[in-house]
Amino acid sequence: MARLRRSLSSLPPRAHVEPVGADLVALAQAHALDVTVFPHQSLPPVLGGDAPPSVWVARAERDGPVIGFVATRANQSALEISGLAVEPLHRRAGLGRALVRAAVRAARKRGFSTVELHVSTGNTAALALYASERFRQAQRVEGFYSDERFPDDGDAWLMVRDVR
Ligand SMILES: CC(C)(COP(=O)(O)OP(=O)(O)OC[C@H]1O[C@@H](n2cnc3c(N)ncnc32)[C@H](O)[C@@H]1OP(=O)(O)O)[C@@H](O)C(=O)NCCC(=O)NCCS
Repeated sequence: MARLRRSLSSLPPRAHVEPVGADLVALAQAHALDVTVFPHQSLPPVLGGDAPPSVWVARAERDGPVIGFVATRANQSALEISGLAVEPLHRRAGLGRALVRAAVRAARKRGFSTVELHVSTGNTAALALYASERFRQAQRVEGFYSDERFPDDGDAWLMVRDVR
């Protein structure tokens, strides 16, 4: 399987991001991370659904456990990032950025015109990451998240990045 490496010096030297493909163990690890990080399930069903998501996972080293993931699915002309998470102990090492870049590269390769996502208006870390990766705040969506644990009454930003 082709490995998508990132050359920025901030990424730990042996860390990498790769498409998860049919690796069910990696998918299970990504799901486990998903439920610990989010109050809702951000990873869409991978098996049995009509439009299974494309998922990339991050590892600190080859064959190590999954410490991050990004999940995407097609939404008309956009590739939507439906979930992105990095394990708390591995944050601020460039993995979130590497995962976003893997999704953007895939969108470009597959002919999508934009990459889009929703992010809580109170999610400072994710907002900073997306802004630094040239996503713009396209629309504020009131009450996007129904779970009471989200700030700002669940408001989210729809963020969009052109990839052409
Ligand atoms: C958002 C998240 C994926 C970022 O992952 P990460 O691996 O820590 O991100 P990176 O190390 O690649 O950071 C890239 C940039 O994002 C910004 N950033 C990341 N975390 C930040 C924080 N806590 N505060 C401010 N800026 C932050 C910075 O600009 C950073 O660049 P820098 O480290 O050179 O300053 C991670 O914090 C996470 O999993 N959060 C919980 C889940 C979540 O909110 N997902 C997004 C849902 S839309």
